[in-house]
Amino acid sequence: MGGDMTGKFGHGMRDLWPLEPGAIHLNHGTVGVTPNEVLAAQWAIKQRIEAHPARFMFRDLKPALRAAADRLATVLGGRGDDYVFTDNATSGVNAVLRSARLGPGDEILVTDHTYGAIVNAARYVCEQSGAALVTVEIPFPINDDAAIITAVENGLSERTRLVILDHITSHTGIILPLRRLVDICHSAGAQVLVDGAHAPGAMALDIPLCGADWYAANLHKWLFVPRGCGVLWASPAVQPDLHPAVISWRLGEGFTAEFDWTGTRDPSASLSLPAALDFMDRLGGEAVRNYNHDLAVAAAAMLAERFAGPIGAPAHMTAAMALGPLPENLDPSQEEAGALHDHLLYTHNIEVPIIARSGRLWARLAAQVYCQMSDFETLADAVEGWAAKK
Ligand SMILES: Cc1ncc(COP(=O)(O)O)c(C=O)c1O
Repeated sequence: MGGDMTGKFGHGMRDLWPLEPGAIHLNHGTVGVTPNEVLAAQWAIKQRIEAHPARFMFRDLKPALRAAADRLATVLGGRGDDYVFTDNATSGVNAVLRSARLGPGDEILVTDHTYGAIVNAARYVCEQSGAALVTVEIPFPINDDAAIITAVENGLSERTRLVILDHITSHTGIILPLRRLVDICHSAGAQVLVDGAHAPGAMALDIPLCGADWYAANLHKWLFVPRGCGVLWASPAVQPDLHPAVISWRLGEGFTAEFDWTGTRDPSASLSLPAALDFMDRLGGEAVRNYNHDLAVAAAAMLAERFAGPIGAPAHMTAAMALGPLPENLDPSQEEAGALHDHLLYTHNIEVPIIARSGRLWARLAAQVYCQMSDFETLADAVEGWAAKK
């Protein structure tokens, strides 16, 4: 693979991934799909580890992780030593939440678009500490940033200690106006944890420039790293009080030392990061982002036209995932969403999340360079067939 790949985006790319022939995969967002050559690099790393396991784990691992973090910083901004690897975004968020010193009267602010697992973690630390969990509502569909800013402003109080902001919301695919929100939260005296699970690889991103205190993300979604690779960035000011959710040998030895060893685990996903970035570089990171964005937006517009419904969010608030409306005669319940999802998967071999929200069903359309418009048209045909029987 080499040269300009942009013209080859679409089904011509599929051989670079181990996707099942015939499967229509419109759900890159959920757990990613690792390219073949990155899987091969990961296998080579596993063999290198097994050639001398204790030497690798206790001597070679730390410098290898630090080198990978330095490489990551060239893509996501800032210094390698402000990044640590986690198994996933959930564990990065848990590290921050479990390190927070909260007490009765304190508040954590989330939105009604916050990912459910993260809400659970926030609720848990609130219950343990006596703090309160405050949820603000962001309207959906949405046309501009104003409603988001107003919702967060209205949810802040002098008791708000921590605000959790998605960079790209999971179920609704909206890019939040992060820098403005962070500034508003800081002005109100609250710290900000960003859940950027979907951001690296899906949108242009400089993490330190977001201005937050912590930024947790996944690299195994849109950056082509094998599954089980998250990252946690922390501003130097908050690092001394930040500990992994799993405490191990290096407690008290500093941010990178504590996170670089959280017990014996398989580090091969994180160490495959350079191979994933090489792959992305050859595709062209900006070309990938632009193709995915344009395809997701066009696919949502196609569903909106075909089923006479609204689009979820305007193009400038969309990265590589967009919600397309489904026919209005479908029951907007979780049960119907689950039944339609399973019908699409098991009858048509189409994997796509179906979301019940704001009184209708939506398909969350994730575009990746191995997808093309005909995939989304096949989805629309299959949904139409389902709706016709209702
Ligand atoms: C916004 C958001 N946060 C957190 C997560 C959790 O990711 P993981 O299961 O890799 O920890 C996801 C997963 O899709 C997500 O969309």
